[in-house]
Amino acid sequence: MDEEIKSFFAPYFSQGHNTHGKTSIITIANQKGGCGKTTTAINLSAALAKRDFKVLIVDLDSQSHASLGIGVDMENLDCSIYDVIVKNIDIERVIVSTYLKNLDIAPATPMLSGAQLEIADLLGREGILRNVLYKMLNTSRKDYDYIIIDCSPSLNLLTINGLVAAMFVLIPIQTHYFALEGMGELFSTIKIVKERLNANLQILGILPTLVDMRTKMNRNILSQIKDYFSDRVFQTAIRVNIALAEASASKKSIFDYAPDSNGAKDYIAVTEEVIALTRPERVPKKDEKENVKKDITRDT
Ligand SMILES: Nc1ncnc2c1ncn2[C@@H]1O[C@H](COP(=O)(O)OP(=O)(O)OP(=O)(O)O)[C@@H](O)[C@H]1O
Ligand SMILES: [Mg+2]
Repeated sequence: MDEEIKSFFAPYFSQGHNTHGKTSIITIANQKGGCGKTTTAINLSAALAKRDFKVLIVDLDSQSHASLGIGVDMENLDCSIYDVIVKNIDIERVIVSTYLKNLDIAPATPMLSGAQLEIADLLGREGILRNVLYKMLNTSRKDYDYIIIDCSPSLNLLTINGLVAAMFVLIPIQTHYFALEGMGELFSTIKIVKERLNANLQILGILPTLVDMRTKMNRNILSQIKDYFSDRVFQTAIRVNIALAEASASKKSIFDYAPDSNGAKDYIAVTEEVIALTRPERVPKKDEKENVKKDITRDT
């Protein structure tokens, strides 16, 4: 991408406050595989839940990593997000609670991989998720402060559904050699969605992930990302931290698995940035900041 494209996209970045009623819907998207989308979805959601926000994760990936990583009992699911997207059932019917107070999930199963073909010819196929979420928010007693949508590594119709349903898109970028490759395609998709399907969509920010400041290459790429997207890059970069991978394998958030790890520190910091962008009134005052950290890492 060049300077022209960069300035072209400037208006698409978040200008701040943007909610439906009290709910902020954030889609986590990047068609690159393994850049930390699901790790971010789980740990951002968990940190928000521990900050006393009511949070729903929507797993839009047939790999089901978000559902598995937060400990959904996959064997005993009657229905999943597949049934919502394809069979038009209310999303309340598939939502299950997690081990964390305030955190629910609409889980995915491998069946979701067939959904795209099944909805490909439907009129309004890009807005299916948006309609079901808004119906829930407008009519039911389920009220969420945040809905976090985890997408698959693809710009497929399900990811488009995620972008159409959201007010914000958060883009994790793994700081490796080809980090910026493919960004053009992602940004063109966001542009088209914004122009044709969801004028409210804003880019919440770019989140550098899997950062290893010990390597020169990583430092260079991080500074390239910052040059490129300037203040739209979150101040927090998520460092490489094995505890994050272990936490997912243990079906726990990083705050319950390793509360003192760098992974926990980084996700607390980025969550505070997300709150500042979406709920400025909930930003803690200077002297309350230490309590916030204690609240999030305290046992629940
Ligand atoms: N900061 C980190 N430090 C160490 N390991 C990490 C970190 N972030 C993510 N991982 C691990 O890297 C792998 C990919 O992360 P994750 O699943 O979050 O990426 P993703 O973008 O959701 O992948 P996909 O595109 O397949 O959905 C996982 O095994 C995860 O546990
Ligand atoms: Mg994932």
